[in-house]
Amino acid sequence: MTSTWSPQSWRSLPALHIPDDYPDAAALSAAEAEIAGLPPLVFAGEARRLTTALGKVAKGEAFLLQGGDCAESFKEFSADNIRDTFRLILQMAAVLTFAGGKPVVKVGRIAGQFGKPRSSPIETIDGVTLPSYRGDNINGMDFTSEARIPDPQRLVKAYHQSSATLNLLRAFANGGYADLYNIHKWTLGFISDSPQGERYRHLAEKISETLSFMSAIGITSETAQEIRQVDFFTSHEALLLNYEQALTRVDSTSGDWYDTSAHMLWIGERTRQLDGAHVHYMKGIKNPIGVKCGPTMEPDDLKRLIDALNPEAIPGRLTLIGRFGSEKVGERLPALMKATREHGVPVVWSIDPMHGNVIKANNGYKTRPFDRILSEVRSFIDVAAAEGVHPGGMHLEMTGQNVTECLGGARALSEDELSHRYHTHCDPRLNADQALELSFLVAERLHGLKDQLTKAA
Ligand code: PEP
Ligand code: CO
Repeated sequence: MTSTWSPQSWRSLPALHIPDDYPDAAALSAAEAEIAGLPPLVFAGEARRLTTALGKVAKGEAFLLQGGDCAESFKEFSADNIRDTFRLILQMAAVLTFAGGKPVVKVGRIAGQFGKPRSSPIETIDGVTLPSYRGDNINGMDFTSEARIPDPQRLVKAYHQSSATLNLLRAFANGGYADLYNIHKWTLGFISDSPQGERYRHLAEKISETLSFMSAIGITSETAQEIRQVDFFTSHEALLLNYEQALTRVDSTSGDWYDTSAHMLWIGERTRQLDGAHVHYMKGIKNPIGVKCGPTMEPDDLKRLIDALNPEAIPGRLTLIGRFGSEKVGERLPALMKATREHGVPVVWSIDPMHGNVIKANNGYKTRPFDRILSEVRSFIDVAAAEGVHPGGMHLEMTGQNVTECLGGARALSEDELSHRYHTHCDPRLNADQALELSFLVAERLHGLKDQLTKAA
């Protein structure tokens, strides 16, 4: 990294979507200093392990599954919620691994995914205009002028919630819950009587048969840690650079800077300006990072971003997360994939089929149709096959809770049902049933692709 970089050097550059209206600047500095004095949430060695795992994804030897809430919240913080997201990711990974025959790299949008870039800084309801809600680590969701004032203590609270969340995730990942012998027990209550539940049970039976065979030849949870535990990583959008700065630490092993707020960080669609604060900050940290690539991204912009963010061409350092919308993906993605293939720097290509597929239902709810989500993922796989690029992963907004936020899926969730359990603090999420269904359908497509490639070889 150039000598001009330091954890705070982003402050002299244009920084979009970071609040500049904290009423008390001294209180903000005090909160930042408090977080800077608290322990790191992750260890640099873990972030390096994720880079290595993503390097395999870049080569087509593994698949990335990244998912979780659009925005975590203080209100929905509970052990059950964390467990349900974790086990949904385990179930989806089992489906994708079994069909694709490749390891699945599991990354949660969790333990730090609070701040939101908003399309408008203000919101008007019934003639009253207030600042927009920007995530629980900045202001409150209630539509009152008091709630919408940024409060620096929310950053401290978000740190502690992230710490407790991560603690439980580590326990689940390593303490026995994720043992493959528990695969039948991961079924979520409300899924068990759905078509996805039936499909999942069938898959779990096949995996159990394999486990019995392996046990007969001496490979069990006791002898193989791969059966007993999983690697589970955390990620969030690196939006609030003051928070990220406070958790940026030198790794004593390598002497490099790491953002210890999460294993992986990504740059959002609205903050990916080449000369902006967010890209500058990300250049200096060694974590694996992502960049959202939306419909306005041009091949030359992308090549410049790749050169800026991965100058040493490290496999697994950079994940490109396409989010075009089902109608635009076919038109915009081919040129970008072609550009990365010709450019030659290794990247992971992943698809976020959520952020380009938001619509407003007739009753006013912000929603996403399952069909469009599925269609964008399918187009992604097809374009990748046509361009000779690995379709490396999927980035989803989803929850293990039985919410009614996205339309469609096997249970055909209708517009009228959106109001039943619409709990999201920002964008509509797939519920567990829809997320599992998507995994089965994507797994089938990826499996088809594998057959095609084997036949062609
Ligand atoms: C998000 O991932 O929640 C998000 C805001 O996405 P994007 O930057 O792609 O709009
Ligand atoms: Co979102």
